[in-house]
Amino acid sequence: MDIKIVPLPTEKMKTKISDQSQLGFGKFFTDRMLVVEWKAGQGWCDARIEPYAPFVLDPACLVFHYAQEIFEGLKAYKWADGRIALFRPEMNARRFNQSGDRICLPAVPEELFLKGIEQLVSLERDWIPTADGTSLYIRPTLIAVEPVLGVKPSDHYYFYVILSPVGAYYAAGFNPINIMVEDHYVRAVPGGTGEAKTGGNYASSLKAGLEAKKKGYDQVLWLDGRERRYIEEVGAMNMFFAYGTHIVTAPLDGSILSGVTRDSVLKLAPTLGYTVEERQIDVNDLMADIRSGKVTEAFGSGTAAVITPVGKLCYKNESLQLTNGKVGEITQRLYDTLTGIQTGKLKDEFGWLRFVK
Ligand code: COI
Repeated sequence: MDIKIVPLPTEKMKTKISDQSQLGFGKFFTDRMLVVEWKAGQGWCDARIEPYAPFVLDPACLVFHYAQEIFEGLKAYKWADGRIALFRPEMNARRFNQSGDRICLPAVPEELFLKGIEQLVSLERDWIPTADGTSLYIRPTLIAVEPVLGVKPSDHYYFYVILSPVGAYYAAGFNPINIMVEDHYVRAVPGGTGEAKTGGNYASSLKAGLEAKKKGYDQVLWLDGRERRYIEEVGAMNMFFAYGTHIVTAPLDGSILSGVTRDSVLKLAPTLGYTVEERQIDVNDLMADIRSGKVTEAFGSGTAAVITPVGKLCYKNESLQLTNGKVGEITQRLYDTLTGIQTGKLKDEFGWLRFVK
C-alpha cells in the first residue's frame, strides 16, 4: 500500500527541544504522524503521513466507551555515523497483532506496520535525540472509531503512529527505584487480557500505583490473580531477580506481557556468562531469599524502562533493600550491553537491528 505524504506547512513545524536533558518521557511529539484507516468491507485504506494534529472524533466512538484499543512501544536510535536503527521492530509488529486478536481488532499487515514506521521515522530523523540515554520513542496505536453505543467490534478503525523524543522513563534516570508488591488489587487473571498491550490494563493499574506512591514507592509489582502468590510483572516492566550469576524471571503464562526487552535479556545474559531461568516465583520465597542474601540483584526490563535497577522491595509492610540500594553489577552490564547494541557502540551479534533508509 502506498503511503501518501501530506505536505507539512513550515508554520506548523515545531521548535525542537535543544536541552536533551529536559526531554523526560512522552512529553514532546514530532511534526508528523502516520494514519491508516480500516473500514468494514474495504479493509486497510487511506494511508497517509500528515502533520501531527488532534483527531476530531465523535464522542460516541467505541474506543471511548468500551476501550477497544491496543498500542505498542519501540525505539529508534541515531548512531554516531548518522544511521538510524530500530530495535527488533518485527517483534512489536507480531505482538501488536497478538494483542489485537484478543481485543477483536483487525490485523495490521506486518509490512504496513514496519514500512509505515520506517517512512515516518525517516521523515522525522531530525527529531531523534543523540545524548546518552535518549532515543525516539515510537507509539503505534489502533483505536475503534465507529460512533455507536452497542457493545460490539467496530466497523471503522484508525491505526496511527506518533513519535516522541525521550530520555529515561523514570525521573530518577538509571538509578534504583523502589517497588511495592501489591497484595490486594490484581492486574490480570488467567483467560483475561493480561498479555495484551491494551489500555484497560494500564487504567486498572492506576489506583494501586497511586496508593503505592503515597507510601513512597515508584511502582507496583503484581502478583497472580488467582492466589496472589506468584510474581507477575510491573505494569511498565517485566521483572528479573539475580541469585548470584543465575537470573530468574516469571514465565509467559498468558497473564503477563511478552516483553521484547525481556526476551532480549534472556538471550543476552547467557553470552555474558549468566544462566537464565523462566519459572514461577513465590513471593514468600523471594522475600526470604532477599532477606538471606541469596537474591543479590533485582531489575526490570521494558522498552521505555530499558533495564531499571530495583533498590527496595516491599511486601506486606516488610521493606527489604537490594544491592545496598545501588546499581548491581549484572544490572549495569546488561544495561551497558543492550544500549551498546542499540546505539551501535557494540556489535549486534543477534541481528536485532533494522536500519531506516
Ligand atoms: C513501553 O515500555 O514501551 C511501554 O509501553 C510501557 C509504558 C508504560 C510506557
